[in-house]
Amino acid sequence: MKTVLITGATSGIGHQLVLDHLAEGWTVVACGRNPEALAQLHQRAPAQLVVARFDVTDEAQTQEVVSTTLANLLKGAPLDRAILNAGTCEYLDVDQWSPALFRQVMEANLMGPANCLAPLLPTLERGSQLVLVDSLARLLPFTRAQAYGASKAALHYLARTLEVDLADRGVKVLAVSPGFVDTPLTQRNTFGMPALMTVEDASVAIMKGMAAGRRTIRFPRRLAWPLTLLSQLGEGLQVRICQWLKQQG
Ligand SMILES: NC(=O)c1ccc[n+]([C@@H]2O[C@H](COP(=O)([O-])OP(=O)(O)OC[C@H]3O[C@@H](n4cnc5c(N)ncnc54)[C@H](OP(=O)(O)O)[C@@H]3O)[C@@H](O)[C@H]2O)c1
Repeated sequence: MKTVLITGATSGIGHQLVLDHLAEGWTVVACGRNPEALAQLHQRAPAQLVVARFDVTDEAQTQEVVSTTLANLLKGAPLDRAILNAGTCEYLDVDQWSPALFRQVMEANLMGPANCLAPLLPTLERGSQLVLVDSLARLLPFTRAQAYGASKAALHYLARTLEVDLADRGVKVLAVSPGFVDTPLTQRNTFGMPALMTVEDASVAIMKGMAAGRRTIRFPRRLAWPLTLLSQLGEGLQVRICQWLKQQG
């Protein structure tokens, strides 16, 4: 039986990924902070799922909980798949700039995965998959996305550099770049979200991409391809396009 560790398992995309892995017979380590949501997950599949409660921004807690949980579960065997999905989104305001809010996003979206890597890397061996969930927002300089976009662009860079350095070990590194998915994270958005997807469809896209071993999993196509093409333009043009998008609201 294969084992997967998923952060951000208590809500949205991560929660659906837990359900889809359980349906495929995986043993799941479901990670999050919310104790009620973790208990509910455990009740669904007590023999197939263990929970790990920690805050990814707390380096010591992340190290302790992840390494202890995996040592008890794997007993020296490698971890087949780790999905670093936990994250947050806050939009900034250039008229009321908040370093604290910027730091909060960076801590969760960038330092979180970096903290998780410390206990995870020793458990990944030939054939293991390391999956980092960034965002299509990494592709262009969207309005008010100074923190979120920067964190996800940096996370994507982290994935690619890990790919360089983990190739010798035979560990596959995959980057997942979703568009808009209907979750508690986006339900706070007050702007129109093009090509909004259900969490079920998003999880199917990720599951298929991981099964196929794709290096980058972008979806939905109708948003991913235009944004990818626009990201190839000169930076001045990219800024002008995003200024125009901002005016459209
Ligand atoms: N929804 C979208 O449209 C979209 C698009 C592109 C990328 N993404 C990315 O996909 C990932 C999942 O997003 P989602 O939409 O599913 O969001 P969500 O429903 O708000 O879920 C976020 C998850 O991350 C966990 N989390 C957040 N901060 C954490 C922390 N400090 N320590 C531990 N766990 C933490 C939460 O756990 P607790 O609730 O237990 O604290 C929760 O399980 C995020 O990285 C997000 O940036 C989402």
